[in-house]
Amino acid sequence: MSGSTADLADIRSEYKRASLDTAGVDADPLRQFAAWFDDAIRSATLEPSAMTLATAGADGRPAARTVLLKALDSRGFVFYTSFDSAKGRDLAANPRAALLFFWAELERQVRIEGDVEQVADTEADAYFLISCAIYDQSPSTG
Ligand SMILES: Cc1cc2nc3c(=O)[nH]c(=O)nc-3n(C[C@H](O)[C@H](O)[C@H](O)COP(=O)(O)O)c2cc1C
Repeated sequence: MSGSTADLADIRSEYKRASLDTAGVDADPLRQFAAWFDDAIRSATLEPSAMTLATAGADGRPAARTVLLKALDSRGFVFYTSFDSAKGRDLAANPRAALLFFWAELERQVRIEGDVEQVADTEADAYFLISCAIYDQSPSTG
């Protein structure tokens, strides 16, 4: 790790592009997210649908990993995973989670927190739904 601390201190970006004007934000957080997601697609960001999913199981220890957004509708944000994975076990024990999108090209992050539900068996075998409110967007606020 020698020298790395100094190098890290030199890495800094100034985020000047976007600011969050709450007056211009859609009252429906999912509709607002859809507009931002369209921005992300247009920005040619590498993986616009990649999001960090944070969970904590029965022991309360948090864990985070990347998953892909597979659907967005009135119920919330849908991703697929295995019930037998660590995240699947976490969510079975504690069905609350946070999602984070970071679109560097847009200098924008979207933070989402909410309850997680499994969608109907008819839709998928290993398919979770997180329905939540978008309450924050950086860089201006967080
Ligand atoms: C770009 C990217 C997308 C991923 N998408 C998914 C996904 O949609 N679902 C999933 O279960 N794992 C996905 N993974 C793998 C997870 O990040 C993770 O490594 C794996 O699911 C095991 O996580 P867990 O042990 O915490 O349950 C993705 C990884 C990357 C790098």
